[in-house]
Amino acid sequence: MSTQAIAAEGGSSVRWEASADLIVVGTGVAGLTAALHAQSLGLRVLVLSKGDGSEGNTPWAQGGVAVVLPGEHDEGDTVERHIADTLVAGAGLSERDAVAAIIADGPAAVSMLRKRGAVFDMSADGTLARGREGGHSAFRVVHAGGDATGAEVERALLAAARDGRVPVLEQHVAVDALRNPVGAVCGLLVLDETGVPGVLTAPAVLLATGGLGQLYQATSNPEVATGDGLALALRAGALAADLEFLQFHPTVLYTGRGARGRCPLVTEAVRGEGAVLVDATGARVMLGVHPLADLAPRDVVAAAITRRMAEEPGGIDDHVFLDATHLDAATFRQRFPTVLAACLATGVDPVHDPIPVAPAAHFACGGVVTTVDGRTGVVGLYAAGEVARTGLHGANRLASNSLLEGLVMGARAAESVAADLALGALADPRGPWEVAVPVAPVADRDALQRVMSRYAAIGRDAEGLAVVGSVLDLSTVDKALETRELVENAALTLAARALIGAAAERTESRGCHVRTDYTTVDDSVWRRSQLVRLNPSGQPVLADAGALRGVA
Ligand code: SIN
Repeated sequence: MSTQAIAAEGGSSVRWEASADLIVVGTGVAGLTAALHAQSLGLRVLVLSKGDGSEGNTPWAQGGVAVVLPGEHDEGDTVERHIADTLVAGAGLSERDAVAAIIADGPAAVSMLRKRGAVFDMSADGTLARGREGGHSAFRVVHAGGDATGAEVERALLAAARDGRVPVLEQHVAVDALRNPVGAVCGLLVLDETGVPGVLTAPAVLLATGGLGQLYQATSNPEVATGDGLALALRAGALAADLEFLQFHPTVLYTGRGARGRCPLVTEAVRGEGAVLVDATGARVMLGVHPLADLAPRDVVAAAITRRMAEEPGGIDDHVFLDATHLDAATFRQRFPTVLAACLATGVDPVHDPIPVAPAAHFACGGVVTTVDGRTGVVGLYAAGEVARTGLHGANRLASNSLLEGLVMGARAAESVAADLALGALADPRGPWEVAVPVAPVADRDALQRVMSRYAAIGRDAEGLAVVGSVLDLSTVDKALETRELVENAALTLAARALIGAAAERTESRGCHVRTDYTTVDDSVWRRSQLVRLNPSGQPVLADAGALRGVA
């Protein structure tokens, strides 16, 4: 099929074309790891980034990579303990096999990352330095630059990609999947840096597009975290799951009432070193809430802070404080340079003053359903990293399991693509295939973020979730996705709809999903994930478990 013959709705037509064996969408830890691994397996890889390649979530990750390294751990830590901690944090919805498989691959993944040039912090005894974060029963989080682990991971992977001449198309946004008559994915419709549509053809497309923190007004995520991969996968016929479990990080730096956009993270590792949460009266927030107190899993801490803020201690209802003033000042400065710089920029010196903090949207525990090899149920479509739902995180992700998952799943997905290609299991990207600029509901982003923050954050109820639905109804207009902004806003709209639908249905509180009208865990009904797919009119609907048969 000639590209000239492909008419795109909305008046535009496809004007350029390129091809590869594998197109990777996203340049964070999962995408770059997949691209490098696929290239090492002999595949022709093309990487796509809608920004400048380093604008994603990965550079902002602070804590580190949770991993039990043989010979490095001297306090009896084991892979089994890491698995157990992950399952506890996941609040009954993590899948044990997936957890075990991903965690088992951690040491090799970290070792490969170091071979690719990432430099981790060392202890005086010559082993890798290790921190601790919420939910971990041991010091097992390896880190770089003190609290700049994500920045070092991104630097090393981008440098390796550049040195390995992995082609990266920056400022190119993926709009929709090209699909053949039987629904297999064989490329992407893409807008280039000037908004001109083109097609990238390939028998395999890997989504590594990260999360969707921009659903909310205050988030630890950068501007690019708009759920694009989730929307693209749903439109291509893939299933999603666990979307109601949107994790709020307990401690982003509070910079004033009504903070908007990306808020600086204050890593949990600060609590791992002994800092404690206090309210405006100086009372401890986490005492009596959980046996691990300030190092309880993230969902527990974020919910406890939210409850305490609602009580308005000392007249303050929108933040609490992280008190690190009793820690050794020199150690703090060396271990947490990123946190220190962010605090000092707002006039807070954490060595002398408690740090004002509040919870903010941080991580999508759910996403596109994949196997632990990165396959979705759609032939030719793969996903890895935050966009994917492997079963690792369940209802709440354990701290520092996200970089781990990106490293492991990036490599695993690349292996799957190579294996599927070798088996001849993928579609011929030369076609025939069909593409048209999709027309999709697009809500006003400000209105969407406002209602999601008000009614679909920590503490939701049926009435509030219905309000979100009504506001989306009123502020949504069908539009052809002809610009990056429209692609992003359509993705946010679809993600919001899917999230509130799943959240309204789940009449219990579990993990990151906290309801004020159903406050307890209901294992008799809800110890299961909810699947989401699009119906023929493009609306997200819940699917029954039988739909999972395609994901194998
Ligand atoms: C943190 O350092 O607290 C965040 C790391 C993570 O999200 O796992």
